[in-house]
Amino acid sequence: MQFTVVPAHELPLGEQALVANKAFAGYVGGWTDLDAATLARFLTLQGADLFYSRFVRMDGELVGFGYITRTGNILRLSGMGIIPEARGTGAARALLEQIFAEAEERGDEAMMLEVIEQNPRAHALYRRHRFREVGRLTGWRGNSGATDLEQARVRGEEVSILEALRIPAAADYPEIPWQISRHALAKVPVGRAFRTENVCLVIGDPEATPVRIHAAIMVDLPHALAWQELCGVLAGVMAEFPNRDFFAPAIFPEEFGTHLFEPLGFKVEPISQFLMRRDLA
Ligand SMILES: CC(C)(COP(=O)(O)OP(=O)(O)OC[C@H]1O[C@@H](n2cnc3c(N)ncnc32)[C@H](O)[C@@H]1OP(=O)(O)O)[C@@H](O)C(=O)NCCC(=O)NCCS
Repeated sequence: MQFTVVPAHELPLGEQALVANKAFAGYVGGWTDLDAATLARFLTLQGADLFYSRFVRMDGELVGFGYITRTGNILRLSGMGIIPEARGTGAARALLEQIFAEAEERGDEAMMLEVIEQNPRAHALYRRHRFREVGRLTGWRGNSGATDLEQARVRGEEVSILEALRIPAAADYPEIPWQISRHALAKVPVGRAFRTENVCLVIGDPEATPVRIHAAIMVDLPHALAWQELCGVLAGVMAEFPNRDFFAPAIFPEEFGTHLFEPLGFKVEPISQFLMRRDLA
């Protein structure tokens, strides 16, 4: 078996989409087949850079990929897949080792990823390649009709996404997942941000079902006060859009469940993730 690793920018997007569809068919996290346009949209939302992303060929055939999002000198593996026929052959190793070698050559500091806890094969692969869990991420679903929001309710002022990005957040990537960081918010197609002095909540289109919760930003202030204010703003936003489902995907560190979602009657989702980090030499 011979493996060659090639840059993603050398391959047409339609061809990349076909490999992704094969690799992700039946994926535990769900998958809808992509074409060139929808793959481009996916890559934009993930902040993935075709310049750093790599595909692997096995005996000349494209069999897998690793999409890379480079933020400063921190990399994120924003999507990885190997088609079923090439699994367990060493293709995944060849691809990852090439990506690590190039990153170390550039002097990059670390690589982050999120892996679904209920995807043991991928989790084991990353552990073998020296990724370590730095957090557990859970998803939440709630309904603005199901909760009495009046008590907690705080009225946040609506601000633009660009203004939300300027808020000096107490925690930022890579301490929190890229997906809820300012880097991901900058890519959100439709975003509505609601802020008070100390916190800001960003949701997607409130006319969509469910309403997506993209991020909850806090400036540095005593723990309990920050959560209380954030709960108030989320309650206020939910009250403004009554009888809607609200959905926070499994990209929120567990403390968001305890201090934000659970108190507002959200229920935990079956899929959870590990946030993992590998330090580079
Ligand atoms: C997750 C995924 C990328 C892992 O790829 P994989 O090929 O199945 O990975 P495996 O760990 O099963 O196979 C690699 C193993 O094959 C074995 N192997 C068999 N023959 C080999 C050979 N000739 N050379 C090297 N390794 C070989 C090794 O044990 C190797 O482990 P290593 O990492 O220590 O080298 C792949 O299963 C996949 O695409 N799944 C669906 C999509 C997905 O879940 N993506 C991840 C989202 S985070």
